[in-house]
Amino acid sequence: MNLFEVYPLYNVTPIKAKGAVVWDENNTQYLDLYGGHGVISIGHSHPNYVEKITTQLNNIGFYSNSIQNPLQVELAKKLGVISGCENYNLFLCNSGAEANENALKMASFITKKSRIISFKNSFHGRTSAAVAVTDNSAINAPINLQQKVTFLPLNDVELVIHEIGKNDVAAVIIEGIQGVGGLDEGTTDFFQEVEKICNKNDVVLILDEVQSGYGRSGKFFAFQHHKIKPDIITIAKGMGNGFPIGGVLIADKYKATYGMLGTTFGGNHLACAAGISVVDTIKNEYLMENVNEIYNYFLEQITKIPQVKKVKGRGLMLGLEFDFEVGELRKQLIFNKHIFTGGSNNKKLLRILPPLSITKTQINQFINALKELLNE
Ligand SMILES: Cc1ncc(COP(=O)(O)O)c(C=O)c1O
Repeated sequence: MNLFEVYPLYNVTPIKAKGAVVWDENNTQYLDLYGGHGVISIGHSHPNYVEKITTQLNNIGFYSNSIQNPLQVELAKKLGVISGCENYNLFLCNSGAEANENALKMASFITKKSRIISFKNSFHGRTSAAVAVTDNSAINAPINLQQKVTFLPLNDVELVIHEIGKNDVAAVIIEGIQGVGGLDEGTTDFFQEVEKICNKNDVVLILDEVQSGYGRSGKFFAFQHHKIKPDIITIAKGMGNGFPIGGVLIADKYKATYGMLGTTFGGNHLACAAGISVVDTIKNEYLMENVNEIYNYFLEQITKIPQVKKVKGRGLMLGLEFDFEVGELRKQLIFNKHIFTGGSNNKKLLRILPPLSITKTQINQFINALKELLNE
């Protein structure tokens, strides 16, 4: 059997990784400034993480959601404390798309309505409703296009008011900071106005923090820069540092009923062990403090490079905008300088999503490599 080839691949084969460093089969060392699409939060193969998952697997790796699993309760408690979202309840699942799928379903259960407002250039995943609220017709099949979705430009409050006025909207879904789209974000005014309009009209406000959450923006959630309280928050990526796990944080005012949501694998013992180790490590190693310190350092250094026209995003969720397409630059960074970076829908943007534990020395390595390539 061959693989179903849906991914264009770089010809690199990582076989080992530690912190922000990855090695291929020839023992060539790469600096990882992309964390496999923003997944690596506490660093590759962190010793506490390896130890926690290994110990758990030697005890019990999986049982279904029909028995007591104290690890789920521990994860929810610790996540509540570290995020400041203690008055939410946690539903555990396996990926970002699944988290958004369940968030949208919850909104529809709650409001008994079905139209969703989403935003231009958004990305929310590839399952049925999640892909329907993703602004990319190329990845929507006819079956997905049955959903009722209206895409609005970011930061146009009047249009949100107009659409919600039609009285058929279940939810507004918005990324804390757009990832795949290219690091655009709502203004504080916009987030606060949308929150107000949603509250006034009983529309559910869903914050997709799948990429921007877990400390990446310098606060635990990116929406916390805007002092709002969403009704539902979705998480994945950094939550498991590579172990597949996702979650939906649901405001306490919404009550659960048995069978309302469900999954076989979500919240299994191994995934919870990974999730607990991530939260513990972010706290014990002051990784959010590191994000803010490195962000300031990165800004100081990068603004000295005249070819970088704009720096978008916050914390360690950054986009460097050039006045040329960056495909070739990314290839040179990988193959000549051995540094992984990312791309986005904005072809002129280089995406930087390193582990939250990255050091100034590693940032210097990138800055020097970038300068050399740009001046060649
Ligand atoms: C903001 C956002 N939401 C949802 C998803 C989908 O997550 P997953 O690929 O885990 O389904 C992504 C993935 O890139 C994302 O960036």
